Amino acid sequence: MAEISVGSGSPFTPGYGKQPLVFGGHHEVVAELTSVFETYDFGENHSILISGLRGAGKTSMLGVLRDAAKSHGWFVVSDNAGAGLVDRVSRSTMPQLLESLTGSERTRLTGLQLAQLGLQWTTERTGPEPKPLLRHQLAALAAARDNGGILITVDEVSSGKTRLRELGRFALELQHALEEGLNIMVAFAGVKIDLDELVKQQHLTFLRRSREVDFRLLAPSETRDVFAQTVGLGGRAIDDDALDLLVRVAQGYPYLIQLAGDYAWRHNVTAPQISLADAKDAHQRAIKAVTSRVISRVWDDLSEQDQTFLRALAGGGGRRKMAEIADRMGRSSQYVNIYKQRLVDSGYVQPDGRGYVAFSLPYLDQYISSLGQGDATDDDVQPASGDTWNDYPPPEL
Ligand SMILES: Nc1ncnc2c1ncn2[C@@H]1O[C@H](COP(=O)(O)OP(=O)(O)OP(=O)(O)O)[C@@H](O)[C@H]1O
Ligand SMILES: [Mg+2]
Repeated sequence: MAEISVGSGSPFTPGYGKQPLVFGGHHEVVAELTSVFETYDFGENHSILISGLRGAGKTSMLGVLRDAAKSHGWFVVSDNAGAGLVDRVSRSTMPQLLESLTGSERTRLTGLQLAQLGLQWTTERTGPEPKPLLRHQLAALAAARDNGGILITVDEVSSGKTRLRELGRFALELQHALEEGLNIMVAFAGVKIDLDELVKQQHLTFLRRSREVDFRLLAPSETRDVFAQTVGLGGRAIDDDALDLLVRVAQGYPYLIQLAGDYAWRHNVTAPQISLADAKDAHQRAIKAVTSRVISRVWDDLSEQDQTFLRALAGGGGRRKMAEIADRMGRSSQYVNIYKQRLVDSGYVQPDGRGYVAFSLPYLDQYISSLGQGDATDDDVQPASGDTWNDYPPPEL
């Protein structure tokens, strides 16, 4: 990690897809996948499906993996799911990678069907350009480095028909390459429900054995570490009370950690320490910004039924009995359960003790209540134990 000098701006990285300076949490999975880059002992890690909340760090995780893979000498291919994925990779990314090979790496490619690789340095042919096949290109790339590792990351996976069809085509090429014994790891990131759809496609057996990682919120201690370390790398310090407040504001939500940290950093940028006053200013502004940039969009994307469920959940201190929600909705518990499960899958709510369900996206509860449709009674009882957010309620505005 690079040291940043004071005056060069904030070390925080608010916004989608911005690689954080300090990637908090997820230590185990990062360590496990990094060890694959070192040992080539894949286990269940040929294919990783990263799902989770909007702004929870899926894209950043792909970046962390790419950095780790590169530092161990792996080839890295990255793209977004969507129309043209296979063509982009096979006509542009792969030829570029193959063309970047050193002379001695190239000599190992003799005997392979070079004309199928889409390379300029192999073209002494006349007539139309043959369509390069991704599986051959991957084989060539691997061969250039003695079956060297290749990490492929695909972001923005979603269940739109075009995307799924394209991903199916892409995954089929990978399936062939894996069957040839290539050392490939592929990491997909997207919304959980969509990845499940993808796995359903029958020829994609390797996807069925995927490692699934579901990104939610960071723990309080991990959140604290991100703030403290990021500020430190930025060349400043932070007062304890300011750090406490920022931790409570962020509620472990990565998007909000960066946003709140950034506001606190900028409030009085010439002071050597970030103070409680800076954190208080950041509090107001960060909640406002996350509400308008994230929470309101999440809300607008939800179906009417999902919204009805969440309204029935709102206003109870963040948590309610399922039976009570069914009552408030005037529906059977079976019906209500279907909506609960959908919302659990997309990470907006979580089961919380026997028969209870709770919001898991911070500030969604408050947002819904602010729409005027929530019920303001506070009948909440929460157990407090361990490294959980129960001990760090979000501060009042
Ligand atoms: N583990 C982490 N620790 C600290 N900050 C993080 C972490 N992961 C992500 N962030 C920060 O959170 C914000 C959102 O991250 P990112 O864009 O990776 O989320 P995402 O899950 O891909 O979102 P989306 O669902 O919209 O694609 C960025 O500002 C990023 O720097
Ligand atoms: Mg993303």
